Amino acid sequence: MLTLNNLRKTYGNFVAVKGISFQLEPGDIFGFIGSNGAGKTTTIKMLSTLLEPTSGSATLDGYDLEKQPMEVRKRIGYMPDFFGLYDDVKVWEYLDFFATIYGVPSSQRKEVIDNALSLTDLTLKKDSFVQSLSRGMQQRLCLAKCLVHNPSLLLLDEPASGLDPRARSDLKELLLELSRMGKMIIVSSHILPELSDFCNKVGIIEKGELLLFGSVQEIVKGIQSHRQIRAKFIDSADLALSFVAVQPLVAQVKTLNEHELTFDFTGNDEDQAQLLAACVQAGLRPLAFSEESLDLQDVFLSVTTGAVN
Ligand SMILES: Nc1ncnc2c1ncn2[C@@H]1O[C@H](COP(=O)(O)OP(=O)(O)OP(=O)(O)O)[C@@H](O)[C@H]1O
Ligand SMILES: [Mg+2]
Repeated sequence: MLTLNNLRKTYGNFVAVKGISFQLEPGDIFGFIGSNGAGKTTTIKMLSTLLEPTSGSATLDGYDLEKQPMEVRKRIGYMPDFFGLYDDVKVWEYLDFFATIYGVPSSQRKEVIDNALSLTDLTLKKDSFVQSLSRGMQQRLCLAKCLVHNPSLLLLDEPASGLDPRARSDLKELLLELSRMGKMIIVSSHILPELSDFCNKVGIIEKGELLLFGSVQEIVKGIQSHRQIRAKFIDSADLALSFVAVQPLVAQVKTLNEHELTFDFTGNDEDQAQLLAACVQAGLRPLAFSEESLDLQDVFLSVTTGAVN
């Protein structure tokens, strides 16, 4: 388990991270979303123990990040936003080097490396030189390096930047697999749709402040005070509009095109079913009648102001 208690970082008078608190459990994939300069990298670096917090604390599996950094490092795999790899070493040598540093016993090293290569789909590149890999493959190698010591927390700072759509989709599958293995994963990005379909928790940070934290559904629900319904009719939308507009709990009816309407609706599921039945009874012949859900992008735009640090 990972717990952050009011973790804060200042540079002189400048507050880069304003005291962040949240908790993650095994298997959680946490999408850390924020614009450039919001404080993602600073937070992740503090969690990696490379940057000392100004105040506040954090524990990983019961170990305090500041007081027991060596215990914490054994349990963390950190993939920075910019990383260098060593030249003139082969892929397996590179992983072997890190496995050795992390104290993986030599009898287990081969198996551990083969597993990391297979998870990151680099088995065929095992004997290639690191500098001969494409950028996407180097990114995967960096991730493989983070796995050799079987950490419980992965800190991935913008791991998808520079990856092609296929590699992004592979990365998503890999993170889901690691989550099933019980690892906690923090993945930062400013590309929202990329995170919303596989993170079970998200946090939105702006100017060093964690504005929202929770599951994607909770966050969307919290922001959305009413439902928005989209309805399609066989006959003209104008005809339907005059009927729908005067129904209870309905506001802001607009036609979208010849056959479709949208409107705000403050009722619950029961009320929505009644409204649909009333449309049918009135002879309106609805073809589709559905709640439009906000996505993470809408939430992000609604809670952030666009201000940068
Ligand atoms: N060493 C430093 N000294 C002073 N200010 C810093 C330092 N490191 C970071 N900052 C400031 O802290 C703020 C947060 O930076 P951080 O790198 O955490 O943002 P980020 O969310 O990772 O942004 P990006 O999406 O661009 O990677 C920025 O305003 C940055 O300029
Ligand atoms: Mg960053």
